[in-house]
Amino acid sequence: MADRRTVLSAALTLGAAGLAGCSAPTSSSTGAGSATTTASKGTTIAAASVPVGGGVVAGSFIVTQPTQGTFAAYSYLCPHQGCPVTRIDAGQAICGCHNSVFSLADGSRVSGPANSGLKAAKATVADGQVTVTA
Ligand code: FES
Repeated sequence: MADRRTVLSAALTLGAAGLAGCSAPTSSSTGAGSATTTASKGTTIAAASVPVGGGVVAGSFIVTQPTQGTFAAYSYLCPHQGCPVTRIDAGQAICGCHNSVFSLADGSRVSGPANSGLKAAKATVADGQVTVTA
């Protein structure tokens, strides 16, 4: 039978391993392919990967290009109940949880149970890259 010191040591080891598994990521890739996300700098994506009149999901944002060379961005969290809005189709962003639909032109609500549009984020363009911050 294990003594008290052995049990305590094992518990501390398991706790440390558990905490290591829970650490927040500092970067991630997205469905947009070449996008990068950092906690302090936001998400950066190649401007050329955002279709004119459409948009892409990059990190925790939806990046759009309503007209050639004009970019906008929105949080991808649905204002209804917070699901990530990850489906882009025919100029609209669609939440898969309860089918709220948002315009890619301005982030406004088109239909569904959400009672507002997507939360705007800041998009800046430089050297062919769009950087998005909350
Ligand atoms: S969470 Fe998006 S429609 Fe309900």
